[in-house]
Amino acid sequence: MAVFISKSSSDTENIGYSLGKSVADGSVIAMFGDLGAGKTAFTRGFARGMGIMCDVSSPTFALVNEYRGERKILYHFDMYRISGWDDLYSAGYFDYLDMGHTLIIEWSENIEAILPQNCIRVTITKTEDFNERKIEIIGAENFEDTCI
Ligand SMILES: Nc1ncnc2c1ncn2[C@@H]1O[C@H](COP(=O)(O)OP(=O)(O)OP(=O)(O)O)[C@@H](O)[C@H]1O
Ligand SMILES: [Mg+2]
Repeated sequence: MAVFISKSSSDTENIGYSLGKSVADGSVIAMFGDLGAGKTAFTRGFARGMGIMCDVSSPTFALVNEYRGERKILYHFDMYRISGWDDLYSAGYFDYLDMGHTLIIEWSENIEAILPQNCIRVTITKTEDFNERKIEIIGAENFEDTCI
């Protein structure tokens, strides 16, 4: 496990960037954390780390956004409003998993039971300081025993 303390939104993006740079294609990143924790900020950095220069925002209506770089594709899910299997099927969750695409998933709490076993878990927690977050990363090979 790796634990980071982020002092700003851009710190969080930078930690996301490092993870995005290091993960293998086809990784599934399951994100946990409250409203406004910084999951979308983390995803913004993560996409850049993969070399994808798209605008990243929460996929409010579609459940999923697709970001295409020159060589890589990232699927960004937001499971906040998921209300059953139909939503997941129509958003293509299982298809993208089967195809081995790289996925990053906000509100993974809501699909805990159907996350792949080998997913990378990112948990962002607010601390007592308004702009501070604790970011825990579990299951990412290059991030074991890192502490900042
Ligand atoms: N250390 C920090 N890391 C990330 N965001 C921070 C930090 N400090 C303050 N913020 C602010 O918190 C908010 C995080 O917003 P963001 O959309 O990334 O959260 P989220 O977890 O995706 O929320 P939601 O569950 O609504 O999708 C932004 O307004 C950002 O400026
Ligand atoms: Mg978000």
